Amino acid sequence: MQQRKILVTSALPYANGEIHLGHLVEYIQTDIWVRFQKQRGHECYYVCADDAHGTPIMLKADRDGITPEELIAQVGKNHQRDFSDFGIAFDNYHSTHSDENKTLSALVYNRLREAGHICSSTITQAFDPVKNMFLPDRFIKGDCPKCGAKDQYGDGCEVCGANYSPTDLKNAVSAVSGVTPIEKESVHYFFNLADFTEMLREWTRAGHLQAEVRNKLAEWLEGGLQQWDISRDAPYFGFEIPDAPNKYFYVWLDAPIGYMASFQNLCDKTNLNFDDFWAKESDVELYHFIGKDIIYFHALFWPAMLSGANFRTPDAIFAHGFLTVNGEKMSKSRGTFITARTYLDHLNPEYLRYYFAAKLSNTIDDIDLNFDDFSHRVNSDLVGKVVNIASRCSGFIRKKFDNKLSMTCVEPKLFAEFIGESEVIANCYEQREFSKAMREIMELADKANQYIDHKKPWLLAKEEGKDTELHDVCSVAINLFRILAAYLKPVLPVLTTKAEAFLNAPTTRWIDELKPLVNHTLNDFEPLMTRVEADKITAIIDDSKETLLKV
Ligand code: 2FM
Ligand code: ZN
Repeated sequence: MQQRKILVTSALPYANGEIHLGHLVEYIQTDIWVRFQKQRGHECYYVCADDAHGTPIMLKADRDGITPEELIAQVGKNHQRDFSDFGIAFDNYHSTHSDENKTLSALVYNRLREAGHICSSTITQAFDPVKNMFLPDRFIKGDCPKCGAKDQYGDGCEVCGANYSPTDLKNAVSAVSGVTPIEKESVHYFFNLADFTEMLREWTRAGHLQAEVRNKLAEWLEGGLQQWDISRDAPYFGFEIPDAPNKYFYVWLDAPIGYMASFQNLCDKTNLNFDDFWAKESDVELYHFIGKDIIYFHALFWPAMLSGANFRTPDAIFAHGFLTVNGEKMSKSRGTFITARTYLDHLNPEYLRYYFAAKLSNTIDDIDLNFDDFSHRVNSDLVGKVVNIASRCSGFIRKKFDNKLSMTCVEPKLFAEFIGESEVIANCYEQREFSKAMREIMELADKANQYIDHKKPWLLAKEEGKDTELHDVCSVAINLFRILAAYLKPVLPVLTTKAEAFLNAPTTRWIDELKPLVNHTLNDFEPLMTRVEADKITAIIDDSKETLLKV
């Protein structure tokens, strides 16, 4: 197999809030895919960063009585701890508030400007005369112009669903100071997205996008592309625009450039070459995993910016759907807005990695975390099927055969059948059809258990003269277990590391190279995973409600 060179990103989380289970769908999805590519022997890098700029971060720091720099440092640390505890193995994690990003953002902007894709014009916007700042739509509140509901945001009504602009709000006030905003003019800088209409039309049709996303883009392109406002006035936490004092890049301008900046930071620590990955003629594969809410930024603005600034464009954007919990939008009052940390306080992160894998496909459909289903799947698939194979057979091998497997694999056909699924399963991983991969693997686990049920080692152990058969049967089962563990390795890195320690045999590469372990000494079997306990789930929900009370 030809070795591929791949660069992968997940969306950069904002540095003003905690990682929650909704975020984790994406990081777990990406991490599984990256681990799979590495296991296949490809050269694959996974980079990410905190998205550290913008008004909400500036205002939160203000409310907390700290500087934005202090806020993003604290939040960044927590994010990284959460990710690491969920087994998300970035090759680099950086921040958009970094020197690399400042340099690259200026470079992209200057190239776009030199190529004539930037213009400026004066616009009128709501301004808070007390805070002395322009107000983003989300920071203006008032009564809905349609249904009269009180306390609605400037961009839309949460009660009747109406969309409007903040100037339509009745009794509008600044959510920052409470005063009535005034209107004020200011010069803004714009990116002429329409210059890229033809380029984007072609790009969106060239196989870089999922079908649903492609259709969405066709609609947007059909409707005509608008100029994109890329500047914000001071005070703003971000990068000042070169040659435009007191004007800052809008957070969404430097956020995706943060992918490049994180990679640049990795290059500086290793001997990787930035241009090999980002130059126009690069043949490295580049993939961005994102949520479906930010398709516009990644499938229109981003390729246009890259192409206008003479960089390569992504090979694909992989969008996923939202997470619902027990069939509904995550809700603070129902205790289903669950942070990564609250989950980790009670449950094994690999349960969730497996559950998401068992639900994920390559579409943008939402996925549901149903706690009954979650417990059932983990208990029945992982504990009841996979781990059970090893726990059923390892005791005999230890007690009767001094932890040594038999001299030959007596079921070469069965072993070959398990190995024979490797390309089918690899293809499911490659296509991000993780739920199909999990189904295939569990079918094999069923087969292994049927084999054990049929051979009944517990009876063989009691019968006179059946030791060789007992030894052979248990050795076959342990070898089948090893294949299953290797197939599950991208999803369950901790469990499979423990399994490899028990097997006394690491599996670093993909399965097709695996030969049966014969005449091989195992280590003592330690329990690999325990069942999900119902009271832990109740505790997570209770804690999530309590976090709400504390806020
Ligand atoms: O939507 C978000 O949470 C953004 N912080 C994602 C940024 S992704 C990339 F473009 F930086
Ligand atoms: Zn309304």
